Amino acid sequence: MCGIVGYIGKRDVAPLLLEGLQRLEYRGYDSAGIVVNSPKSTALKVVKAKGRVRDLETRVPKRFAGTTGIAHTRWATHGAPSDINSHPHLDAENKVAVVHNGIVDNAAELRARLESEGVVFVSETDTEVIVHLIARSQAESLEEKVREAVKAIEGTYGIAVMHADFADRIVVARNGSPVVLGIGEKEMFVASDVAALVAHTRQVVTLDDGEMATLKADDFRTYTTSGATTTATPETVEWEAASYDMGGHDTYMHKEISEQPDAVDRVLRGRIDDRFSTVHLGGLNLDPREARGIRRVKILGCGTSYHAGLIGASLIEGMARIPADAEPASEFRYRNPVVDPDTLYIAVSQSGETYDVLAAVQELKRKGARVLGVVNVVGSAIAREADGGVYVHAGPEVCVVSTKCFTNTVVAFALLAVHLGRIRDLSVTDGKRIIEGLRRLPAQIEEILKGEEDIKELAAQYADAKSMMFIGRVRGYPVALEASLKLKEISYIHAEAYPASELKHGPLALIEPAMPTVAIVPDDDLLEKNRAALEEIKARSGRILAVAHREQEKADHTIIVPKNEDELDPILMGIPLQLLAYHTALALGRDIDKPRNLAKSVTVE
Ligand code: F6R
Repeated sequence: MCGIVGYIGKRDVAPLLLEGLQRLEYRGYDSAGIVVNSPKSTALKVVKAKGRVRDLETRVPKRFAGTTGIAHTRWATHGAPSDINSHPHLDAENKVAVVHNGIVDNAAELRARLESEGVVFVSETDTEVIVHLIARSQAESLEEKVREAVKAIEGTYGIAVMHADFADRIVVARNGSPVVLGIGEKEMFVASDVAALVAHTRQVVTLDDGEMATLKADDFRTYTTSGATTTATPETVEWEAASYDMGGHDTYMHKEISEQPDAVDRVLRGRIDDRFSTVHLGGLNLDPREARGIRRVKILGCGTSYHAGLIGASLIEGMARIPADAEPASEFRYRNPVVDPDTLYIAVSQSGETYDVLAAVQELKRKGARVLGVVNVVGSAIAREADGGVYVHAGPEVCVVSTKCFTNTVVAFALLAVHLGRIRDLSVTDGKRIIEGLRRLPAQIEEILKGEEDIKELAAQYADAKSMMFIGRVRGYPVALEASLKLKEISYIHAEAYPASELKHGPLALIEPAMPTVAIVPDDDLLEKNRAALEEIKARSGRILAVAHREQEKADHTIIVPKNEDELDPILMGIPLQLLAYHTALALGRDIDKPRNLAKSVTVE
């Protein structure tokens, strides 16, 4: 959410920053801006534009030379999207420029104080207070000016600061919003996300909360907001620049859906131990004795990751026989939950930066809980905050809506469930059965993807719906929840998800020909119950699209998916529904990778 990129070196900075912004646009896309040093003047040069990075690009003059610059792509929090509210923000003399990701909670108070001292604000943003605090500071160094400013603000920030009087450096600071330094050869980069860096360097340093850094062309140093030097050893990013390209697909979403067979293969790789029909998870930091002492598992995540957590809870409860449930992290952190030492908490997040999840983890840690992470982005805030965990190895997910990461997260939970199960209650035979099922997944996903043309035709038939119902029972219910979220996010068709068993307790009243139902109907012990729900819908003249292992007589259409073990069926049943949402959105002409009002990595509350 909001992308920051900065550069200091010898190259012409504007094209570098614009390219970086393109790569970060998925973090926010309502406005963008760029500021560069001016070799000939004491003022910084700035261009900002409401809209996409391409709108900004058309405004950047041909002659916009400079070798140091910072840029931003915005997802509005304070102040509507507009040229004025776009970042970078500057002081009246264009000497100080700031790009900011996060929220200044005490912005109103600081603004009132600064206004009473005669400062004139030009934007409605919270960020502008940071600019004026730095510009008015009497401190001698830029580092000290920034330090004073961040001490005055409450809230979250990842900031990058340029000052015309300190032209040899960029100063950055982090609290709650990601800041990554990219270490080059006589050039340095900074970004909110490695996506903007990997085309230039794979050597990175991720700042911790409370840390700052000074970047010069041939040098960098890190220190705390209290001034103490910190040690920062660059790490190599595992993802390559090419993983961020569209790779011949029309959208990132399509690319990421298609990548699932490989992605699932990756999460399984090197983790299965056939000798003992179990799974080894290197980063778990949980010895068997501790694992046997767990009395409960509580999984926390938001949105799609929460849905993956619901399936994860049922896998863990089913295989390890530990009571398990999932809850939105955003709700959990505000209800003062009882934190029980015998409960294992698991935080789930693709980005590893979602603020609500991070805050829940921090609250749990404060209360002495053991927290594991199931995370995609290596070294992200949640991964670092957790006591251990499982990386889901989905590779970079650029589309705002999550697809491959959902699938890989559920597979990671299946691995964790086998691991915990084999230490506790899962038989060798069942361990082997699940492991073999997991191994079949990549080929089965491939088979589902081959049916894309048929799903596209179905999408054309359902795209005129104003509203859709998604139903599933027990294991099928989280699949229904996730499929309905996917549809509404990218097609803007209203969708509801209900347990099939709850239909007659209310939602059945909505059923009519204009409200189609997507039903998850696996061939398991609940098949007959699910069929009864289809009967109820058909009796009310409802249209039905079933996702099943065999043709469903009561359904108008059935998408048939390959059968796996009952426990793993939800993984496969979700995949055609990603394609259904995709093709429905495409038929409606939506901007699939950047749905309205949304952004990836929600790093604010
Ligand atoms: C939906 C989607 C979001 C995210 C949610 C959590 O398609 O992508 O609902 O799942 O914002 O994000 P992460 O997983 O990064 O914590």
